Amino acid sequence: MLGQKLVLLFSKSENTTVIATGKGPVRIDFPNVSYLDVDLANRGEVFVAFMKAAPTHIIHAAAITQVDLCEQDNEMCWRNNVIASENLIEVAEELDANFQYISTDFVFDGTAGPYKETDQPNPINFYGKSKHVVEQLLINSQLNYAIVRTVLVYGVGQNLSRSNLVLWVKNKLENHEPIRVVNDQWRSPTFVDDLATGCKLILEKKASGIFHIAGKEYLTPYAIALKTAEIFSLDSNLISPTDASAFKEIGTRPLKTGFDISKSVKELAYEPVSLEQGLILVKEQLQS
Ligand SMILES: NC(=O)c1ccc[n+]([C@@H]2O[C@H](COP(=O)([O-])OP(=O)(O)OC[C@H]3O[C@@H](n4cnc5c(N)ncnc54)[C@H](OP(=O)(O)O)[C@@H]3O)[C@@H](O)[C@H]2O)c1
Repeated sequence: MLGQKLVLLFSKSENTTVIATGKGPVRIDFPNVSYLDVDLANRGEVFVAFMKAAPTHIIHAAAITQVDLCEQDNEMCWRNNVIASENLIEVAEELDANFQYISTDFVFDGTAGPYKETDQPNPINFYGKSKHVVEQLLINSQLNYAIVRTVLVYGVGQNLSRSNLVLWVKNKLENHEPIRVVNDQWRSPTFVDDLATGCKLILEKKASGIFHIAGKEYLTPYAIALKTAEIFSLDSNLISPTDASAFKEIGTRPLKTGFDISKSVKELAYEPVSLEQGLILVKEQLQS
């Protein structure tokens, strides 16, 4: 999802050549963008593709983001989240390329959100641990890097391999299916277009270090679902609130994450839309 938005955004920039990578045949139809089929967990493939393309900047948005899948198959998660990142960090060091790594609110334990960049990570599931390990690799690397942490990303794209909370709620309500949504977790939902803009601001301003790039509101998934119903004129009576404890999830989710984004607002002039504005934009993008 984010990768597509980055490709779209940077392909409109002057004097910029964009090379998208993904696993398998290209799934998107964007003009003026080269595409390389690279399994990032395969060191040989990474070195052949990246040494040839020789990028000056790498934005690493690939990951296995399904928390339960990572908990069930630690080896697969480690391969795609940690080994793949090690390969990219190594080739970036070889090329002396600027590096951005997209990380997550799930590096925190959820006991003290909303979090600042200076707060201490303490992941409580394997997905969060795998992302935190990569943050540490970068901090200890020789690279000029930025760690871009984000939270509950929503938006649209072409042939997405995964849904997101907003699209899931919209689809369920359109099919008149009742849904239960948690009301005791707290997040700052992030419009994917804002996240891509945040990455671009970091690149343009040559900023380095850790940045929290998220939405500006602090809400529960239940409140997000209700707002989605309102903007898409769907029946909110189909949505019931529930506690996280009512769900038997394999990977534990942190309760209160969400971010304090004041550093990004001040240092990057990052200005995200409200959830309502973001949902209106999602609606427009789905209609175009
Ligand atoms: N979405 C969120 O709510 C959220 C929240 C916090 C942080 N993040 C972080 O934000 C970043 C972008 O997330 P997203 O929502 O855009 O995720 P996404 O839509 O699932 O995209 C991740 C992409 O990574 C690809 N990938 C995984 N392993 C790979 C490998 N070995 N080689 C090549 N490609 C590989 C996946 O390929 P396939 O399509 O083939 O599976 C997928 O297309 C991730 O780093 C994630 O951890 C996301």
